[in-house]
Amino acid sequence: MINPKLPGIYYGGDYNPDQWPEEIWLEDIRLFKLAGINIVTLPVFSWAKLQTAEDVYHFEWLDKIMDLMAQNGITVCLATSTAAQPAWISRKYPEILPVDAEGRQRTHGSRVNFCPNNSKYREFSVKLARKMAERYKNHPALLVWHIGNEYGSYCYCDTCAREFRNWLQNRYSNIDELNRCWNMSFWGHTVYDWEEIVPPSYLNEMGRDYFCGYPREYTCFQGISLDYNRFMSDSSLACYRGEYDVIKAITPEVPITTNLMGAFKPLDYFKWAKYLDVVSWDNYPSIKDSMGNIAMRHDLMRGLKAGDPFMLMEQTPSQQNWQPYNSLKRPGVMRLWSYQAMAHGADAIMFFQLRRSFGACEKYHGAVIEHAGHENTRVFRECAQLGAELKALHDKILDSRLRSRVAIIFDWDNWWAVEFSSGPSRDLRYVEQVEQYYNALYQLNIATDLVPPDADFSKYEIIIAPVLYMMKPGVAKDLEQFVSNGGVFITTFFSGLVDENDLVGLGGYPGELRRLTGIWAEEIDALYPDMKNTIVVDVPSGKMRGKYQCGLLCDLIHLEGAKALARYGKDFYAGWPALTENRFGKGKAYYLASAPESRFIRDFLKYLCDSKGIRAPLKAPPGVEVTQRFKGNYEFTFLLNHNESDLRIPLNRKRYLELITGREQTGSMKLKARDVAILERKLLE
Ligand code: GLA
Ligand code: ZN
Repeated sequence: MINPKLPGIYYGGDYNPDQWPEEIWLEDIRLFKLAGINIVTLPVFSWAKLQTAEDVYHFEWLDKIMDLMAQNGITVCLATSTAAQPAWISRKYPEILPVDAEGRQRTHGSRVNFCPNNSKYREFSVKLARKMAERYKNHPALLVWHIGNEYGSYCYCDTCAREFRNWLQNRYSNIDELNRCWNMSFWGHTVYDWEEIVPPSYLNEMGRDYFCGYPREYTCFQGISLDYNRFMSDSSLACYRGEYDVIKAITPEVPITTNLMGAFKPLDYFKWAKYLDVVSWDNYPSIKDSMGNIAMRHDLMRGLKAGDPFMLMEQTPSQQNWQPYNSLKRPGVMRLWSYQAMAHGADAIMFFQLRRSFGACEKYHGAVIEHAGHENTRVFRECAQLGAELKALHDKILDSRLRSRVAIIFDWDNWWAVEFSSGPSRDLRYVEQVEQYYNALYQLNIATDLVPPDADFSKYEIIIAPVLYMMKPGVAKDLEQFVSNGGVFITTFFSGLVDENDLVGLGGYPGELRRLTGIWAEEIDALYPDMKNTIVVDVPSGKMRGKYQCGLLCDLIHLEGAKALARYGKDFYAGWPALTENRFGKGKAYYLASAPESRFIRDFLKYLCDSKGIRAPLKAPPGVEVTQRFKGNYEFTFLLNHNESDLRIPLNRKRYLELITGREQTGSMKLKARDVAILERKLLE
């Protein structure tokens, strides 16, 4: 449980009382209660109000608001306010301001606009966190700590350059080792002294250019660029950990988090998650995003702490302000997407923001309380309805877990390396590839975990590693073990090529995965967007038969033990294997040599899941998402109708209690457009 002090679903969000006169606070509290809100996150951006000079702090206004919350039975997710330093700090200590990748030092403004290695930033932020922890350690409203806000900026200043060199000295025993790992003989880059190393930026290794009209980013040296990403992720993490450690020492019982951002490239969240007591994240899809892509991000966030329930820290009740087109969530969508988060493991449903500000860039961002200022709005009514429903659920769902037999490997280092690669194709995007596989499983309603490459694979029956380009030490061995024990492993083109320094393993691709896959790849062809090949199925399996389109990359592979299930249909490698199967111990390993159309992935994964007896909990019509959470002897089946039409869902001859309506359901049940059902069932002991 996130914190046993609040044994129900957390419902609330970011609240900025310091943007409003005190008279409004009481009105806000009235409205919060009306909406069923039990938690507010504050004060996320109030450093300038909390500390007006070097040793001058003002907590009185915060005391007041904390007390008001406690008196009204509302808990607080207490933010340390350290995402935006006050202007006086930037003025007095200008080196706190970061330098961008083009070498320009930024001036004060915006937010998350500090150098993560700046000692004044570290000192002041930790001091503020300590003061807050000491002041509020026994406050009855305190429920969760929220450090900073959406970390993620990169800096290229002299301090960072110095710290980078230190970081490198920890990673590499000596300069020769660094030269070897970065292959510095290339382009005469050999260095003889740590001081010769400078951060990779647009002033040196990194570049942006236009190719056929497309902007592209690149680096000439993957080794240093990869290490800089790792170092920057670690640098922000060190800021977070500085605050974490002081708070933990003072309030060991109170869980601590910071709000993450899903598939956010700059930070290696698997590494971060070790220092989060609970994962929380901000979900801001556009109304055009696919439900599968949103579900995948929930699963990725749940995967950060091996399946522990997470907090949906922010979502908008209606619209964003920062997207090109900020469409409203249609009636029912906010509720549906909130339950979707819960269906994927969230125990908290929270908004940005509770009251809409009236100035600056977020004044047109949705809020529970809109500019009208009262409860008679569509958005408020929808929020209040959801609040009442969540309240009625009590602790039923709380702390229940999903159970997945399928996992997809996701890895930030791999993401960086794939997209730092110069060739074979600029169109290869790691997350897009992962989404292909996830979406196929999503459409089949098969529960899937997203796991790091060093996860415990023994929990799973099928493991998919799309574009597992970088092989970290021990991973190939673990995968071999998994397959020998009967597991099914699927990997694709552009896998197994390099080690963690982006150095190619010589002797044939896919390097360390060669034994397991029983193939070797001789060449990699990159196709222009308008060039396609075909995959022709040799051995019809399940629905997988006939011809499918493929493109992007085509590996030219030879069999060394594996058998071909499908072959290329065109070009000079027509007839070469495109999909192979290799028996390995008690299991099987598959290699998919090109990027096929989604229908192929779907038919292929369906075939493999069927072969393992892995299927959806209920047979639902398309557009109805089905997931399950389990707790003790109870199973909770979530049905989410993403369609704009009412549907009937067959219920497998079982008896259920639908928790939102409190009605028994048997045989089949009607689910209205955009409606949700949570079916509870007691399992046999
Ligand atoms: C982020 C931030 C919030 C707010 C929202 C707007 O998630 O954490 O402070 O700016 O975006 O969508
Ligand atoms: Zn810096």
